[in-house]
Amino acid sequence: MPRATPRLFEPITINGLTLPHRLWVAPMCMYSSVDGMPSNWHLVHLGSFAIGRAGLIMTEATAVSPEGRITPDDAGIWNDEQAEAWKRPVDFVHGMDSAIGIQLSHAGRKASTWPPTRGRGSVPEAEGGWRTVGPSALAYGDFTAPTALDLDGIRQVVDDYAAAARRSVAAGFDLVEVHAAHGYLLGQFLSPLSNERTDEYGGDAEGRARLLGEVIAAVRAELPSGMPLVLRVSATDWVPGGVTEEDTVRTIGLLPPVDLVSVSSGGNDPRQHINASPGYQQPLSRHVRANIDAPVGVAGLITTPEHAESAITSGDADVVYVARQFLREPTFPLRAAAALQGELPWAWQYNRAKYIESIP
Ligand SMILES: Cc1cc2nc3c(=O)[nH]c(=O)nc-3n(C[C@H](O)[C@H](O)[C@H](O)COP(=O)(O)O)c2cc1C
Repeated sequence: MPRATPRLFEPITINGLTLPHRLWVAPMCMYSSVDGMPSNWHLVHLGSFAIGRAGLIMTEATAVSPEGRITPDDAGIWNDEQAEAWKRPVDFVHGMDSAIGIQLSHAGRKASTWPPTRGRGSVPEAEGGWRTVGPSALAYGDFTAPTALDLDGIRQVVDDYAAAARRSVAAGFDLVEVHAAHGYLLGQFLSPLSNERTDEYGGDAEGRARLLGEVIAAVRAELPSGMPLVLRVSATDWVPGGVTEEDTVRTIGLLPPVDLVSVSSGGNDPRQHINASPGYQQPLSRHVRANIDAPVGVAGLITTPEHAESAITSGDADVVYVARQFLREPTFPLRAAAALQGELPWAWQYNRAKYIESIP
């Protein structure tokens, strides 16, 4: 009897882009940029996942404007020089027959903070920080309070996303992800805990989703047909009175269509209570997947091939995003394929002389 292909190693096509399998690298901030420039670090870090045969590799949260950076050391794509520099890791990934997407981000009131290795909390302006913006003048915990965006500021955010998407196409990325998760600017607008506006960008669910809808429409207008647009959301704030997974489903229904929804959670309110155990976000992705038309991805303490496979066979998700296990083991998909009896060839450079098989 022919062996059944593990579901994890079945290809998936989203809006014309076929990804060879469903074990994908989640976006991970690297705090390794000067003036937002991707560096040799990004080439080697992202390139290692291509050698490891990831089905799709996501860049870190990449700022659409300088003030949208989480930290001064974040990567960006707000100018042409950065777009040009992104071509190097993008070309390398393509040379390995892998695919790469860019996560477009604006940190809003959670911008201008220290990278974890240099401190915590807001970076003072005197030390290289900047004034932050948000839907309302409400601080995240003890961070410096943001200025509430006026309508011109909101228009600028939409324009910045559109320009970043245009540059992402020019750099050769295979897909674009709009980052509305983890309490960054677009997520701040979605949540009643951070959005107290009384104009058309606040108030009810429709008002709070308006900016995200405008960003998605503006980004889509920059993408050639057949280039997917992914949306990452925090399905719940994990705080009473905040966004719930039911709200998230309703919000997605208010937005222009997207090609895949990546389900994450939390990050908008320090009062959050998360019980993080393996697969802890799968009930959320399962709920979202059951109630929307687009395919769904999930992340969250998935570290074994069997768990990744079961996240798909159980119906919790269509694709699995993994972050930390890829840092431990950039060749995780190759081990997963061997464990699940899927087909995934090593890079020819490693495979040709059968080095891999001959290592005890
Ligand atoms: C070092 C690191 C950096 C991260 N940076 C981002 C980011 O830039 N954008 C994002 O959406 N999530 C980010 N995350 C969250 C991951 O994408 C992922 O959702 C989370 O780590 C759970 O997956 P895991 O248990 O496989 O690590 C980051 C996680 C880690 C560990």
